[in-house]
Amino acid sequence: MNKDKEIYQKRLERHYDELKWLYMELYNSMEDFEKLCEAMEEMYDRRKTDLKKQDLKREADPDWFKGHDMLGMMMYTGQFAGTLKGVEEHLDYIKSCGVNYLHLMPLMESPRGRSDGGYAVADFRKVQPELGTVEDLEDLADQCRLQGISLCLDFVMNHTSEDHEWAKRARAGEKEYQDRYFFYDSWEIPMQFEKTVPQVFPTTAPGNFTWLPDLGKHVMTTFYPYQWDLNYSNPVVFHEMVMNFLFLTNLGIDVIRIDAVPYIWKELGTTCRNLPQVHTIVRMMRMIGEIVCPGILLLGEVVMEPVKVAPYFGTVEKPECHMLYNVTTMATIWHTVATQDTRLLKKQLDTVYSLPKTYTFLNYLRCHDDIGWGLDYDTLAQWGMQQIPHKEFLNDFFTGRWPDSFSRGELYNNDPITRDARFCGTTASMCGVEKAGYCGDDYGMVQAIRLDLMLHAFMLFQAGIPVIYSGDEIGQVNDYTYKEDPDKMLDSRYIHRGAFQWHLTDNIGKEGTVQNQLFHGLRQLEILRQTHEAFRADAHAETYYSDDPALLYICRTSENEKLLGVFNFSQAVKILDWSIGGLNLVTGGDVAEEKRLVLRSYDFVWLKLEPEKPQEADAEDEPSEAISCSQ
Ligand code: GLC
Repeated sequence: MNKDKEIYQKRLERHYDELKWLYMELYNSMEDFEKLCEAMEEMYDRRKTDLKKQDLKREADPDWFKGHDMLGMMMYTGQFAGTLKGVEEHLDYIKSCGVNYLHLMPLMESPRGRSDGGYAVADFRKVQPELGTVEDLEDLADQCRLQGISLCLDFVMNHTSEDHEWAKRARAGEKEYQDRYFFYDSWEIPMQFEKTVPQVFPTTAPGNFTWLPDLGKHVMTTFYPYQWDLNYSNPVVFHEMVMNFLFLTNLGIDVIRIDAVPYIWKELGTTCRNLPQVHTIVRMMRMIGEIVCPGILLLGEVVMEPVKVAPYFGTVEKPECHMLYNVTTMATIWHTVATQDTRLLKKQLDTVYSLPKTYTFLNYLRCHDDIGWGLDYDTLAQWGMQQIPHKEFLNDFFTGRWPDSFSRGELYNNDPITRDARFCGTTASMCGVEKAGYCGDDYGMVQAIRLDLMLHAFMLFQAGIPVIYSGDEIGQVNDYTYKEDPDKMLDSRYIHRGAFQWHLTDNIGKEGTVQNQLFHGLRQLEILRQTHEAFRADAHAETYYSDDPALLYICRTSENEKLLGVFNFSQAVKILDWSIGGLNLVTGGDVAEEKRLVLRSYDFVWLKLEPEKPQEADAEDEPSEAISCSQ
């Protein structure tokens, strides 16, 4: 056996028993399992030498993605640069943002007007023609690899577009293809599902089934009616989708974002979310990745409450995803902006900080989707905030209906029955850049920029990978043109997916402009993050009690360094007696000389403190006790 095959065999042997066990549990067919193994080996044989070399390197350094130098950006190819070639041509700009992890939103073939932003895939092996070709994608991946950028792509695995070949054949009456989805002749079973399965898009796509009059059947469509749910209890679906997954990794995609993964297994009488079989499938994908292409990472899109999220990391012996989104923290950040009350955010951070440091979260202020108000309402209720009115307050605040609100944006899936709605808007618009710009309010703009930078400073203070949405680095505001496009007008998420405003990048070098302040402000923080060891993922992080709920204190401690972040989430100026000193990393100023710390509205500081000397550790050295606040 040659060396190359030996490597493969070793990897296979390591996982063979467990993989077989799990496969048999779901599909109970040794013949099918053997077919899967053969196909995996074939995909390995087709993997390029460069990628195989990279696999070996990453296998030897499995924490390669956990460094505090990681910085992500997400973008739509078309909105950023028109095509994949365009993205390649603009890699210099992406690099100038310090980015080394690039998430391109779905770009496989998807029918116009029925694409859900690319999340309704008609062909898993073909790039959307306007964006380029599979060869362009492979070229871009090669370029990214050369330039040290990891490329992330969505793998939309819960459903296909109704234009996918399988769906077309199913619609034409082929039983074999109907079995790849969930088809029902009568309303009886769908109705039973509807009793327990919540709705994802209650307004824009109510219900979980779609009636196909031409066929006289109902098909399961958890998301939009044109996105048909795949039936993973059929081994052919699993097999084919694994091959589609490996097709992407063999193009050189480093990070596979498994889209809407909690939804992939359906069982009558359940919510059809996070079922045990989902974890079996993710675990199998993890093992298949480690056998065929161990250099790749699985990023789970699990937009669920915290107790449902962490299980997708799996266990130390049986890991599932490499990375997950820090979604509750994201929503809680915006709750904190609206309430100027950091208590819930502190509690949320305490939960995150108590998780194993081996977990890698992607931190973000917003993404391409709406912000759902998935907050800890039990805790909020103790503080007098009830779920429904509180959600209404948040939505009023961020849409700008609340008196004095500086935010601008729109509701998403406003459900009049549950009185629930989610929210859409860019970071800059939510921070007040749009309103201040429109009203010519200079002071409003100063505050908006400060809030925007403070929130990024908060995000960058966390371990994991910070991900910036393309355009946020230059304060791009909401784009209302989607209302003129019949394909987009019903989906307000397009408000924050606007085309990248290249002309605004001319302002980056112009002192005093929004773009100049945000771009350089962010770069400075990102560089500080990269160069200070207390930002390492294994550093100890904790929050401190604050008697002023508007202030949040986070301390990061590594072997040789102690950093304290103080974040003012209120519009009030905070003047703090400050006996513990510290070097302000952003200004370079020494706080010790001043004996007080001044935080303007929405301001923050990152302080480097003297590491505690154990023998002198008395009450005076303890920030939580030394801090006293006045307004
Ligand atoms: C994910 C995507 C979202 C899409 C949905 C259906 O949640 O982030 O944009 O609508 O999946 O594919």
